[in-house]
Amino acid sequence: MRIVTAGPAHVAVLEGLHGQCFDEGWTAEDFGRLLATPGSFALIGAAGGEPAGLALCRVAADECELLTIGIIPFYRRRRLGGQLLAATLAEARTRGAARYFLDVAEDNTAAFHLYYSAGFTQVGRRPNYYRRGGAGIAALVMAVDLVGAEQSDRSGRGEPQSR
Ligand SMILES: CC(C)(COP(=O)(O)OP(=O)(O)OC[C@H]1O[C@@H](n2cnc3c(N)ncnc32)[C@H](O)[C@@H]1OP(=O)(O)O)[C@@H](O)C(=O)NCCC(=O)NCCS
Repeated sequence: MRIVTAGPAHVAVLEGLHGQCFDEGWTAEDFGRLLATPGSFALIGAAGGEPAGLALCRVAADECELLTIGIIPFYRRRRLGGQLLAATLAEARTRGAARYFLDVAEDNTAAFHLYYSAGFTQVGRRPNYYRRGGAGIAALVMAVDLVGAEQSDRSGRGEPQSR
């Protein structure tokens, strides 16, 4: 996968990708606003010559937060999400972040396993953080250290023990 840094000229592409990855996609205006926020950066991953995935993060002080990541359905389970996540970890490190956080819906098995494979561990849980069909879904807070230890890679080492 070819990964490029997205700028204001890419907001329509980001909107198109996000809309294919999530039920409630973010608009180009949303991305424009988020990209204008200090410390934010977005990456677009291309496969087969077309945009296949996106990620958006924000670095504040020495912490990075993943705001969104997605791979369009056709390209899933080909290790592209893992590559894109790894690229955000590298960029966050370059920007001086020491720790990287994210929220994931408790029932999002694919994303949880993606993050777990990349070395993230659960550090918290926010009940009723998301709403879906009138029901509250908890968010798991996951984190990984970006400095002081070699990046963990648990891929191929079996299932998470925490769930
Ligand atoms: C989560 C998402 C980005 C994963 O992208 P992907 O390119 O399919 O992921 P990868 O192929 O790189 O998978 C890496 C690892 O994640 C885990 N994983 C990915 N999809 C999975 C699934 N459907 N079920 C279980 N584990 C899964 C596996 O551990 C996988 O490693 P493996 O292939 O060796 O088993 C993708 O499913 C997606 O865009 N989902 C919709 C948007 C979303 O939920 N984003 C996350 C919001 S927190």
